[in-house]
Amino acid sequence: MIRQAVLLVGGRGTRVWPLTDTVPKGLLPVAGVPFIELQFRLLAEVGVEEVILAIGTSHESAWRAYAEGMTEPIVHLAVEHTRLDTAGPLVAVRDHLDDRFLVLNGDVVLEGNLSQFVENAPDLPAVLSLVAVDDTSAYGVVVTDDNGNVERFIEKPPPGTSPTSSVNAGMYLVSRSVFDGYPEGALSFEQTVFPSLVEQGLLGGVTIDGVWLDIGTPPLYLQTHRDVAAGKSRLVEMEPSHLHVGADVAGQLEGRWNYVAPGAVIERGASVSESIVLAGATIRPGSVVQDSIVGWHAIVDGARLSDSTVVGAEAVIGRDCELSAGLRVAPGSELSPGSVTFAAPS
Ligand code: GTP
Repeated sequence: MIRQAVLLVGGRGTRVWPLTDTVPKGLLPVAGVPFIELQFRLLAEVGVEEVILAIGTSHESAWRAYAEGMTEPIVHLAVEHTRLDTAGPLVAVRDHLDDRFLVLNGDVVLEGNLSQFVENAPDLPAVLSLVAVDDTSAYGVVVTDDNGNVERFIEKPPPGTSPTSSVNAGMYLVSRSVFDGYPEGALSFEQTVFPSLVEQGLLGGVTIDGVWLDIGTPPLYLQTHRDVAAGKSRLVEMEPSHLHVGADVAGQLEGRWNYVAPGAVIERGASVSESIVLAGATIRPGSVVQDSIVGWHAIVDGARLSDSTVVGAEAVIGRDCELSAGLRVAPGSELSPGSVTFAAPS
């Protein structure tokens, strides 16, 4: 039985910036639910009673506010004053760890059968959960032998060149002894701990079936909502009517899904399609927002947004601006009318 889990939520979250300027990645809402809540729901399925949240100092108060008053599971915060990377946080809390426990990356959740993973994992000091993906080129592929021992890793193999489609799903079953001999300080699972275990034949890998949600980049954060809206998640549901209670929507909601947070306003004459509009944001008449993310209290004032554009909190996007191709607008910026476009004004 596994009683304890460590959640790694102290990364910088640069790939999903500027949202992570305002909110830590693990607390970004998915259909209104802080992402980490999905992990707590998954861990509850195997009876985890105690969670250590490994955090940095940059969003410490947000994490404290979130963890305050939680009784099930019991949550402890382990605060790092220098970046410890993915395995260093475990070395830092080694004295508080059970003999065997779960470690979860804070920005992915694999909705598989966790009990089966815990019960059937090979008897090795560390076992990775693996998930099969269609396109391996963005991931570290994990090659295992017939007994579930990891033989090697292949970093981001181009499509069609990989011997397997299994990639590291970001959830591990780990024994405390794995950290014996490592000094306190920054340490990476991926760069150091796992390769060393592979050399000794001590790393296992188990492929798990299930939806894999990832919020690590803007396109993945959007894809997570797409999957949730399609009913693929058992951990979180989205309002079938497209709307979240508390949003004020007089404009058009198009496409197969939208997440509009409480306090957000879509004014008449604005159109929003397959996008995330976060709390307090306003989409004014003449705006067209497609496949994009509008941050907290930002204003889109008659602009066109598409293709994974991300608008930071409290930014203002002026009339006739055209933002696309993954453009990111820093929190609080103001783009004056027509100041960013793909073509000269007509
Ligand atoms: P990017 O900057 O966008 O790559 O994000 P990230 O900093 O979160 O890095 P990455 O996604 O590779 O990290 C995987 C997981 O490890 C995430 O859940 C991070 O929060 C976590 N993580 C990464 N670095 C640290 C760290 O120094 N300390 C702690 N506690 N967690 C970390």
